[in-house]
Amino acid sequence: MDQDEKKIKVAEAALEYIENNEILGIGSGSTVNCFIEMLDKVKSKIEAVVSSSEKTSQLVKSKNIKVIELREAGKISVYIDGADESNKFKQLIKGGGGALTREKIVANSSSKFICMIDDSKYVGVLGKFPLPIEVIKMAQSSVAMEMIKLGGRPILRENFITDNGNIILDVHDLEINEPIKLEKFLNNIPGVVTNGLFAIRCADKLLIADDKNIEVI
Ligand code: A5P
Repeated sequence: MDQDEKKIKVAEAALEYIENNEILGIGSGSTVNCFIEMLDKVKSKIEAVVSSSEKTSQLVKSKNIKVIELREAGKISVYIDGADESNKFKQLIKGGGGALTREKIVANSSSKFICMIDDSKYVGVLGKFPLPIEVIKMAQSSVAMEMIKLGGRPILRENFITDNGNIILDVHDLEINEPIKLEKFLNNIPGVVTNGLFAIRCADKLLIADDKNIEVI
């Protein structure tokens, strides 16, 4: 099974987690796009969606499902999203698509976070996937210097501005042995809006597609 087929399989498995009369949080990315594509099957259960990106909002609206603001929703029962990497503690790297800030906000406002990945993204130690950091443009070089001090190699994501009007630095070569500690440290650097570690608010359930099955941990 190739990676695209696994994305479809895992997205299908995530449909099971939608409950009745649900206000659903939805993340961003290609796995999420597969998930949204299948929402017709369960549309009657969904009252409204809180979205993590302009792209997701567009797709959800194209399914004639209502998109509401987080402030109108209050607490969300289930948040469904993909990730770029996960370890066995369900601590994640996210932000490959650049929507990390709103994803973190919605995930943090949700009672349950269901994360969908394929087995290539399940790793022993986080950091092979470059860690995305959303940064206020003015702080590009000062944040980059801090990343170099940490042993990372920050690369500006070219021709990319987030939905919030900021830049992304993708930090290569980090071996992330203490994700919670690093997430907190990065949060404290002036100019950092959000870092792509989802370790403090990690996933509650991880659905992993391999060639044959969906493993749930
Ligand atoms: C979007 O900003 C990301 O956090 C995605 O959730 C993550 O990159 C996974 O994306 P794919 O499903 O496209 O691999």
